[in-house]
Amino acid sequence: MSMTVGIGHGDDVDSINDIKHGGIDAAMDRLGVEQLRARRSVKWSVTSGDQLGAFIAESDLPLAPTVRDAITAAVAQGLTGYLPAVVSDETAAACADFQQRRFGWTVDPGHVQLLPDVLGAFAFTIGHLVGPGTPVVLPTPAYMPFLELPGALGTELRTLPMDQVDGRFVLDPQRLAAALDGGGLLVLINPHNPAGQVATGDELLAVADVVEATGATVFADEIHSPLVYPGHQHIPYAALDERTAAHTVTAVSASKGWNLPGLACAQLIMTSAEHRRRWSASPFVVRHGTSPLGAVAASAAYSVEGVAHLDAVVDYLRRGRDLFADRIAKAPSIGYAAPEATYIHWLDLRKADIDPGEVAKRTDVLGTNGTACGTAGFLRLTLATSHAVIGEIADRLVGLVD
Ligand SMILES: Cc1ncc(COP(=O)(O)O)c(C=O)c1O
Repeated sequence: MSMTVGIGHGDDVDSINDIKHGGIDAAMDRLGVEQLRARRSVKWSVTSGDQLGAFIAESDLPLAPTVRDAITAAVAQGLTGYLPAVVSDETAAACADFQQRRFGWTVDPGHVQLLPDVLGAFAFTIGHLVGPGTPVVLPTPAYMPFLELPGALGTELRTLPMDQVDGRFVLDPQRLAAALDGGGLLVLINPHNPAGQVATGDELLAVADVVEATGATVFADEIHSPLVYPGHQHIPYAALDERTAAHTVTAVSASKGWNLPGLACAQLIMTSAEHRRRWSASPFVVRHGTSPLGAVAASAAYSVEGVAHLDAVVDYLRRGRDLFADRIAKAPSIGYAAPEATYIHWLDLRKADIDPGEVAKRTDVLGTNGTACGTAGFLRLTLATSHAVIGEIADRLVGLVD
C-alpha cells in the first residue's frame, strides 16, 4: 500500500503552530506527513511508512496563539518550579468563568482545585473522596483506562453494558439501580468517549434519580465538554439541581479542547461541602504535582481569546467529521453515528463482518479495538487531524468492504 494522502508539502515545522496567517485551514493544508512525524507526538512517532495513528486523543491542530504566548512568557519569567497558589487561584477563577460563559453554570472558584490530570482526579476521588471499599460502576463502552484503574487501585469494578437503542447508547435505570445498590461511585463520561454522545437533560435527570435513590456518588468526567458540535448542548451534570451538586465531583480540563495533556493541569470542581472537607483533610502529597505551565496554559485557554480559537477548532473538527461521515456512508454495512461532540469516532463493524483487531494489519490505520473499551465489535478512532488524513482513513476503511 502506498501513502495516498495528498497532504501538504510545507517544509517548515514551525508552520504547524503558525495560524496567524490564514487560520486553521491554511495551517492544516500546509501540514505534511514529514512535518507531523518531525513533531514527535505519540501517534506520529510510533507510526511509520503508510501507517496512520488514530488511537490516542492527541490533536494535530495548531496550538492557540494565546496559549503559546502564555507558556512562553511563563518560561521567560522562570515559572518552572512548583505551582504557586497565586497561579492556581487564577486558573480556578478562569475555569469557573469558562463554565459560566460556555454552559451557564455558576461555579464558585473556591470550589475548584487543580490536579495534574483527570485520571489522577479519578484516583484521588476513589482514594479520598468516597468511603473505603466503594465500588466503581462503569457504563460500557468507556474510555479504556477506566476499565483498568479501579483494579490497579484495589477497588471493585462493576461494568454496566449500556443498551443500544436506535444507534444510541443508553443506560437502563433498573440495571443502573442494581449496580449501584448500597451506594457506589458512578463514572459518568459526558460528552461520551468513545460513543461521542452528548447526554440530554432527560438522560441526566434519569441518572440523577437513581443515584439519589441509592446514595451513590458521581464522578462526572466532562473533559470533552469544550468540543461540542452545533445542534447539541452540554449540560454539566452537577449543575442540574441541588441533588446532583451534592452527590457529584466534576473533572474538567483544557487538555482535549486545546490539546494540552502534556502540560499536566486538570480541574476538580467540588460542589459538595463534604468533598471539599475531605479534599482539605487529604495528605498534601496526593494533591500535588500540577504543572505551573499547565495552569498558565489553562487560564489562557479559558480566556475569551482562547475560546475564540477553540471555536475555530470545533468548526474545523466538525467539517472533518462531516467529511468522514460522507465517505464512510459509501460502506453502509459499517454502523456509524457521527459524534455530537469530540473527535472520537465509534464504528460498529459487526454487520460488515470486520474484526476490529485486524483493521490495523489490513489498512495501516491504527485505531483502538472496542474490546479495550469493554464492547466487542467496534473500532474507536481519534480524528483530530487534517481533512486529508481523515479522508484517507475513511477511504481505507471503506476499502475493507468493497
Ligand atoms: C473521557 C476521558 N477522560 C480522561 C482522559 C484522560 O485525561 P487526562 O490526560 O487528563 O488524565 C481522556 C483522554 O483522552 C478522556 O478521553
